[in-house]
Amino acid sequence: KRPPASILFIFGGSGDLNYRKLTPALYNLFLDEWMPEQFSIVGIGRTEYTAEAYRTHLLEGIQNFSRRKGEQNGHVKKFFEHVNYLQLDAGDVASYARITEYVQAKETEWGIHPNVIFYLAVAPQLVPSIAQELGTLNLCKDKATTRIVIEKPFGHDLASAHELNALLTGLFAEEQIFRIDHYLGKETVQNILALRFANALFEPVWNRHYIDHIQITAAESVGLEDRAGYYEHSGALRDMVQNHILQLMCMVAMEAPVSFDANEIRNKKVDVLNAIRPIRREDVHESAVRGQYSAGWMKGKQVIGYRDEKNVAPESKTETYAAVKFYVDNWRWQGVPFYVRTGKLMHQKSTHVTIQFKDAPTFAFPSEAAESWRSNRLTISIQPEMDIRIRFQAKRPGQTMTLDPVNMTFNYEGSDDHTPEAYETLLLDVMEGDATLFMRADQVEAAWKVIMPILETWETRQPQDFPNYNPDSWGPEDADALIAKDGHAWINLP
Ligand code: BG6
Repeated sequence: KRPPASILFIFGGSGDLNYRKLTPALYNLFLDEWMPEQFSIVGIGRTEYTAEAYRTHLLEGIQNFSRRKGEQNGHVKKFFEHVNYLQLDAGDVASYARITEYVQAKETEWGIHPNVIFYLAVAPQLVPSIAQELGTLNLCKDKATTRIVIEKPFGHDLASAHELNALLTGLFAEEQIFRIDHYLGKETVQNILALRFANALFEPVWNRHYIDHIQITAAESVGLEDRAGYYEHSGALRDMVQNHILQLMCMVAMEAPVSFDANEIRNKKVDVLNAIRPIRREDVHESAVRGQYSAGWMKGKQVIGYRDEKNVAPESKTETYAAVKFYVDNWRWQGVPFYVRTGKLMHQKSTHVTIQFKDAPTFAFPSEAAESWRSNRLTISIQPEMDIRIRFQAKRPGQTMTLDPVNMTFNYEGSDDHTPEAYETLLLDVMEGDATLFMRADQVEAAWKVIMPILETWETRQPQDFPNYNPDSWGPEDADALIAKDGHAWINLP
């Protein structure tokens, strides 16, 4: 069922996010017949564009970044009939009247009262003033049909996130506010819920009695990609751990929801964040490791170090890698470590979650039968592979009792072209008004609270060993030591 008639205003309409992600996602939704019968997409920006030039610019984005490139039986033309551009200075209060006029014109044309969605794909410092102006527009008073979408970063720390929440919730009802964490829109991330709660097989062993530890890796092979302006003031902990990684952790660790209601799911997830054991400042060095990449070689190509990147301070202490050990203090997870890590310019792009089960209680086989008892492992690959593997021991065919770990794999093989991108799922949810996969105010703040002691400690102490890892590696040695001292090793997927 298609969502109701919608007008999408994209602030930052001439920006990179719209070019690479939003318009290509909307185009794919259009091809898949998920867009409403009546819809209008309006880019808002300061850059001067004629409608025609704007469409040409976005078409280029589709050709470069959409999972289905370019023309599909005349659909490009049809899609762009719905796309317009409004040159507007977001700082000029009077110009917001043009938004209201646009909506009124569409209402008259369509003969119905459509959804009005404001997507703020702008620099974080512009969010408060735009939200403020929108909040005073009469058309935002309709809680059922007006929505505001906020991109990350949501605040810079707990205090600023709290302030932003206070501002937004003062202007809009919580159900109107859609805070994006694009990881939640990924097919494989959503599938964690299906795996855990649509099967009776896994849940009985999904706890401290059977699970030894959990690892979450979000390794990227790209480096800074010209984003110094943002990243220098962010770093891996803010950029990836506060949001994407903690959200993955919530999916893995949450209790079973009793319904698929947005607030029910989010309640269960926020419970996990609230149960994460606070890391004391004096213990940060025991539980967290930061890293920064040096110059070196990446897949045969020479790359510069982080500190040599354009607009990066020569003594920058911004981390491009972070690893943290968390505990979740509740009945299910007491004593089970969660090791998480993320980094840029690492050996390969790979995001995966590994559930390492405990050893078999006794081993009746001759000791030479197997190299390790530690065989039971469930791995959920989020990207680029999209699969679920269960590793267990099996007898090697032959006359001797020799055991080998084998993998049973489910994958979404060949479905790449049909697998919606995260932004497609999330944009569709916004049009439908379904906030399940979006961050509620308390979730965002709870996540900041978790990382604040690490952030504050790192900010006050200059790292002595930066840069401390090579491009094309798996991160700093200290991160290996962090997990090795508990008798484990990071699991890198082939
Ligand atoms: C973004 C971060 O939120 O996620 C980027 O700001 C990062 O630094 C990106 O590269 C990773 O997303 P994905 O979908 O490519 O894993």
